[in-house]
Amino acid sequence: MNADIQSIQDEATNAFEKAQSIKELYDYKVKYLGKNGSFSAIMRNMGKLSKEDKPKFGKMVNEAKNKLDEIYAKKEESLKEKALEERLSSEWLDLSLPGPKRFKGSGHPLTMVTREIVDILSRLGFSVRLGPLIEKDRYNFEALNIPADHPSRDMQDTFYVDDTHVLRTHTSPVQIHVLESEKPPIRVLAPGAVFRCDSDTTHSPNFHQIEGLLIDHKVSMGDLKGTIGYFMRELFGKKTKIRFRPSFFPFTEPSAEFDCSCTKCQGKGCNLCGHTGWMEMGGCGIVHPKVFEQTGVEYPKWQGFAFGFGIERMAMIKYGITDIRLFVDNDIRFLEQF
Ligand code: FA5
Repeated sequence: MNADIQSIQDEATNAFEKAQSIKELYDYKVKYLGKNGSFSAIMRNMGKLSKEDKPKFGKMVNEAKNKLDEIYAKKEESLKEKALEERLSSEWLDLSLPGPKRFKGSGHPLTMVTREIVDILSRLGFSVRLGPLIEKDRYNFEALNIPADHPSRDMQDTFYVDDTHVLRTHTSPVQIHVLESEKPPIRVLAPGAVFRCDSDTTHSPNFHQIEGLLIDHKVSMGDLKGTIGYFMRELFGKKTKIRFRPSFFPFTEPSAEFDCSCTKCQGKGCNLCGHTGWMEMGGCGIVHPKVFEQTGVEYPKWQGFAFGFGIERMAMIKYGITDIRLFVDNDIRFLEQF
């Protein structure tokens, strides 16, 4: 019996030592020390032993098992270390590799130009007012001296919401809201989206304008030209040329349109300015007496000028953008340049 214990112990020691993996080692543990293992098998023969031999035998088996437990624990430790080393070397990280690229957000060019325009004109005392995008006919047309049968309604291809509401075709309706609700003197700016059935490389169906309205005593065309000139040179640089062309708007008299020299070709003519050297920026004029009459503001005690220009056009000139559709394409390669 003693020889049996010794031979199982030797065999198990050998097996534990030659095990190459934790799984293999564990399988040997089950084989020799498990419930149905070799030691359990010889223990079952203990009944055949004499009363004196039984405890001796039991002690020897326990000693052999304790010894094997120790060998097992050591081997397990060394196999775990080996496995960890193998894992660490196979999962090796090259810390010198560049990390994943992070994209930095930037302002949309239209937002940036709008902020710059507001910033420049606020130095002259103008402050911002906003108006609704869906307007009553009265605000978009009637009170601006554009009655239902007026031919100038055709100038702006209107999106009608219903018989009496439109998507505003310009920011001029904000003039009416302000004149109805505020007391002169007034200096306001109204930036925002406007809508027209109009689309090509320089015209968009949903574009943005900024309206300016100044109401005070004795306001002249000279004041208007000075204000627009100051603002355009601040935005595009001191060398920018501005020209005013006589025009017609039902809500201003006299009326003008103003252009700025193309910043891409310095007025020589290029694809950005349609080879004219000039870029049309907006309309302006002296507030028409009919507008005062519609809004109950005393005239000629109070007089005023108004202007309205396209923000996309300003951004196109400022950044040399030749297609207006780029502003709404949401192409990251375009947007991250600003
Ligand atoms: C007006 O909208 C007038 N409300 C401007 C005004 C205000 C006149 C106050 C007098 C007093 P107009 O339709 O010309 O005017 O448009 C003004 C500017 O908006 C144009 O000069 C142009 O820069 C821009 N614009 C017009 N249509 C489009 C379009 N479809 N896409 C992009 N920009 C446009």
